[in-house]
Parts: sequence; structure tokens; C-alpha cells
Amino acid sequence: MNILIRDEQPEDIQYIEELIKVAFLNEVHSSHTEQFIVNNLRKNKQLTISLVAIEDGTIIGHVAISPVIISSGETGWYGLGPISVLPNKQGLGVGSLLMNASLEKLKQLGGKGCVLLGDPNYYGRFGFKSYPDLNLPGVPHEYFQAISFINHIPKGDVSYHEAFDSTE
Ligand SMILES: CC(C)(COP(=O)(O)OP(=O)(O)OC[C@H]1O[C@@H](n2cnc3c(N)ncnc32)[C@H](O)[C@@H]1OP(=O)(O)O)[C@@H](O)C(=O)NCCC(=O)NCCS
Repeated sequence: MNILIRDEQPEDIQYIEELIKVAFLNEVHSSHTEQFIVNNLRKNKQLTISLVAIEDGTIIGHVAISPVIISSGETGWYGLGPISVLPNKQGLGVGSLLMNASLEKLKQLGGKGCVLLGDPNYYGRFGFKSYPDLNLPGVPHEYFQAISFINHIPKGDVSYHEAFDSTE
């Protein structure tokens, strides 16, 4: 596969929305609102990183990173997700390319670390782990994971931007 990873461009936006919708269509643990989340993060200028994966001129993957708030007051932390790959392109390494590229970019932007909600079996391979004192209220602890770029994991409750409650 010859995959290019780059920042989203204005002309990508409608394709990103469609891609996210299709990627999550058959996901059991999905609210099926992920495309609205990305649209509303962008509208609220909270889409810190939005990368697309392109194969033969077609967008086949996308990842979003946005700021989170930690109750301890520590700043510089971000949340990764949603991340999506077209169903017929899954399992080929595109998700891993997007994970690595977005984390690298976050580091370059000066981010201190990143959190996400997801299957530890998948995200563990990128260095994400759950930590006893860093929580996302209301979700099972082992699914909420973090990676630090500064050798320090904050303590407290994490909240995502209100765009994550978007239903349209
Ligand atoms: C999750 C997702 C982005 C991964 O992208 P991908 O291109 O399929 O991932 P890769 O090819 O880099 O990695 C494949 C590996 O991840 C595993 N994997 C993929 N999705 C997984 C998931 N949701 N849970 C656990 N493991 C998963 C595969 O089993 C495979 O494991 P292996 O390397 O041991 O064989 C993609 O499957 C997807 O879009 N899923 C639907 C949307 C979604 O659930 N997004 C995540 C929540 S935000």
C-alpha cells in the first residue's frame, strides 16, 4: 500500500464526514455521532490535529486530536479520537500509521500527553496504558488510557470538549 498521511484541507471535509460515518456504521460501541463530533470540534476551533490517510487520491482514514481539561488544572493534554479507517481498508496498518503520525505531530506541537478511550489490546501497542489516578468519569477504568511525553501522568478527572456530546 502506498499511503500518504497529511493534514486535512478544506476540500477534504465532506469526505472525512462520510468516511467517519461509514467506519463506525457497524461498530457496537459507537454512538454513530462521531462525524458530528469532528465537525463540531472544527467549528469550535478545537480540532488541534486532523490527519487524513490517502491512497491513490482517495481518503481512506482519518484521526482527530483535541484538547482535554484535567481537574488538577494541568494543561497541555489532548484526547485522541475518533479514529477511522474505511471498513475494506482495515487491518492493513492504516490505523497504525495515523496513530503514530498524530502522536508525533502532537509532540512537535508541544503537547504533554494524550488520552483516549478504547480497547487496551489495540492502543497498548502505541504506549497507551490506564493509570489508577487518571479517570474519565462514567467509563470502565481499563478502557481509559494515557501516554505521556514528559514522564509524568496527571491525577484527576478528564473532560472532553462539549462537541463530544454532539448529535448533529
Ligand atoms: C480502529 C481502527 C481505526 C484501526 O485501524 P486499522 O487500520 O484497522 O488498524 P491497523 O491495521 O493499524 O491495526 C490492526 C490491528 O488492530 C486490531 N484492531 C483493529 N481495530 C481494533 C479494535 N477496535 N479493537 C481492538 N483491536 C483492533 C486488529 O485486530 C489488528 O491486530 P493485529 O495487528 O494484532 O492483527 C479501524 O479498525 C476502524 O476504523 N474501526 C472502526 C472505527 C473505530 O472503532 N474506531 C476506534 C474507536 S475511536
